[in-house]
Amino acid sequence: MRIPRNGRFALLSGALAAVLVAAGIAITGSAEAATTLGASAAQTGRYFGVATSAFRLSDTNYMTILNREFNSIVAENDMKWDATEPQQGRFNYTNGDRLVSHAQSRGMTVRGHTLLWHAQQPSWAQGLSGSALRNAAINHVTQVATHFRGKIHSWDVVNEAFADGGSGGRRDSNLQRTGNDWIEAAFRAARTADPGAKLCYNDYNTDGINAKSTGIYNMVRDFKSRGVPIDCVGLQSHLGTTLDSTYQQNIQRFADLGVDVQITELDVQQGGNQANIYASVTRACMAVARCTGITVWGLRDPESWRTGANPLLFDGNGNKKAAYTAVLNALNAGGPTTPGSPSPSASSQPPAPGGCSAGVTLNSWNGGYTATIRVTAGSGALNGWTVGVIIPSGGAVTSAWNAKNTGTTGQVTFRNVSYNGQVPAGGYTEFGFQGTGTGPTATPSCTA
Ligand code: XIL
Repeated sequence: MRIPRNGRFALLSGALAAVLVAAGIAITGSAEAATTLGASAAQTGRYFGVATSAFRLSDTNYMTILNREFNSIVAENDMKWDATEPQQGRFNYTNGDRLVSHAQSRGMTVRGHTLLWHAQQPSWAQGLSGSALRNAAINHVTQVATHFRGKIHSWDVVNEAFADGGSGGRRDSNLQRTGNDWIEAAFRAARTADPGAKLCYNDYNTDGINAKSTGIYNMVRDFKSRGVPIDCVGLQSHLGTTLDSTYQQNIQRFADLGVDVQITELDVQQGGNQANIYASVTRACMAVARCTGITVWGLRDPESWRTGANPLLFDGNGNKKAAYTAVLNALNAGGPTTPGSPSPSASSQPPAPGGCSAGVTLNSWNGGYTATIRVTAGSGALNGWTVGVIIPSGGAVTSAWNAKNTGTTGQVTFRNVSYNGQVPAGGYTEFGFQGTGTGPTATPSCTA
């Protein structure tokens, strides 16, 4: 019998409660289905994100929903080429930085969108070609990925480079005309600039097995065979009123190549099947271990880029739509845990009241790695935490973010920084570090 994850947890905690009661120890509360999208996705190591903009940070009603529901954000426009390099060599990170610091203050991860794309280029880049454009493009990748280094979960390094229709080939664009190798050059530059970020190729009309998604599939397979650094494929999933019957199969075939899959810009035309399509997309992602997260392309219907389609999860008053409930239920039904999520042994050991536990996720390459450490509060809120990690001999910690380390080799201690010491009961926060050699495998210790 297959018991959904929540069911298993309920059974386990029921048994645990019986033991504790027998031992005369009182406990309160019980495991219940998560009530927000982010918390529910996190139960299987996934994220649930939303596209947003810095100018919305001051909209209180909007931010109340965003902060409550999501554990990941992406800039709808603020990190695009025209926004970040309006004049050649003059970079503007103001709005991107505001979004990143909001995310960090709330323990959310950030998707980076997008380093190179044929659209929303600054006018100076539109006027370039040949090696001048290639050099400017690679410089853009290097500068922007370096600026946000250590703060981005996944970058859409290249967006929408394949043609629609039956060719399965590349789209014509000024970037494509600099040479077919522009995509791999961009991925290599991004890896050098930010080795900790997952590097994604992102596109639309890839919502099933078709000529375009097969063209992308062949590129990813080629990249993997030649060692071009690629970690993930983004399926935008701007959907109409039907869903391709091969949607899940398509996710699975990318995962089988050894890359993660992320649903990056989900929105679904309202009318008829909206809630069902949202549920099917969510179930398809939940069914594939390497489908690691879903992002919806906007919060409330009137703010969607698809004017009149009402394609989002909240209406104009911020009310949850039927589609919202369908997604939440599909997330709560569970599925395989993502490969990178903290080990079940770490997360299923309930920490002592007032205590904490920690789990490690590694993103490794030959000679180095980045580690993401999730610090989870027990039944009491944390006001400061300390995590001990054993660094395998021969390697060392070279940088850390969202935590301060003491020592770099052997037993290394990480303490919270000013903005992430407080973690609500049952909640979590994450920090990371980069190291040389092989990554830590033992479960980190946590004290609060
Ligand atoms: C859209 C934004 O939502 C709009 O605000 C903007 O005017 C145009 O771009 N594919 C992508 C996104 O990768 O960046 C696009 O976002 C939607 C289609």
